[in-house]
Amino acid sequence: MQIELSGMVGIVTGVGKGIGKEIIMTLAREGVKTIGVDVNQEDLDQLSQEFSEEGLDGLFFNCDVRDSKMITEVVNKTIKEYGRVDLLVNNAGVAGNGEVETLPEEIWDFCHDVNLKGMYLMCKAVIPIMKRQQFGRIINSASFAAIIPSIGSAAYASSKAGVKQFSRVLAGELGPWNITVNSYAAGMIPTTLNHFSELPQEQQDRLLDSLTLRRWGEKKDIAQLICFLASDLAGYITGTLIDVSGGKYATQFPKAAYE
Ligand SMILES: NC(=O)c1ccc[n+]([C@@H]2O[C@H](COP(=O)([O-])OP(=O)(O)OC[C@H]3O[C@@H](n4cnc5c(N)ncnc54)[C@H](O)[C@@H]3O)[C@@H](O)[C@H]2O)c1
Repeated sequence: MQIELSGMVGIVTGVGKGIGKEIIMTLAREGVKTIGVDVNQEDLDQLSQEFSEEGLDGLFFNCDVRDSKMITEVVNKTIKEYGRVDLLVNNAGVAGNGEVETLPEEIWDFCHDVNLKGMYLMCKAVIPIMKRQQFGRIINSASFAAIIPSIGSAAYASSKAGVKQFSRVLAGELGPWNITVNSYAAGMIPTTLNHFSELPQEQQDRLLDSLTLRRWGEKKDIAQLICFLASDLAGYITGTLIDVSGGKYATQFPKAAYE
């Protein structure tokens, strides 16, 4: 059995670094015509150079997922170039911490605008195209925070819980057009979003003790899931939240198995 993605056209958001960069490079290596979106031009330039060096297929746009006009431009240019959109991966996301009593409104709005509204705007822009095609795959980045949140994560966790529930609603709405919509709950993958691997060892140990597999996740763990969900192999999976967290809190005290 093989995952066959070549010839698909896929838009990925938040590709400048971290998990999104790994996702778009993996898809491109699998033959997907990729369109990458980010707000950081320097990162996009670097990515574009890496694509050229590897001979990969990609178009890159400086686009803020909170901006519906910019999104329309990206989608129009994609259609002009490739004529279709088979896959949308809403990966762009931001963190924002603070206990509710003192949480600045700006942080609340920032998390909800990028993580939730940005995803909604991206979906809205591709739905008519996917409906015309009678085919589409939409994959949304939730988080383990949508399953069990941390203290001080009200803004982030509620935005990601929103992603999970939004994805289920959209799956229901788009089922008749053979469009699947899923979300995934990534666990702890060290990136510039969380700086996990730079924490003092004691704090790292505390976090690792919550994981059944007791090791950090890797960006490729997510990229491989995206390839599977985008492929025909996952054609009967929709409306679900997939947990990719190394079994975070699968049992109450995962650490006990290591003692
Ligand atoms: N790393 C983890 O352990 C983890 C865990 C759970 C969920 N996630 C989710 O995975 C996704 C990627 O996280 P990461 O760790 O790679 O983060 P990251 O900070 O390394 O990368 C996020 C990317 O999104 C881009 N971005 C931010 N705001 C944007 C906007 N308004 N429009 C377009 N692009 C924007 C950033 O420029 C950056 O390139 C996020 O949605 C995050 O919430 C990550």
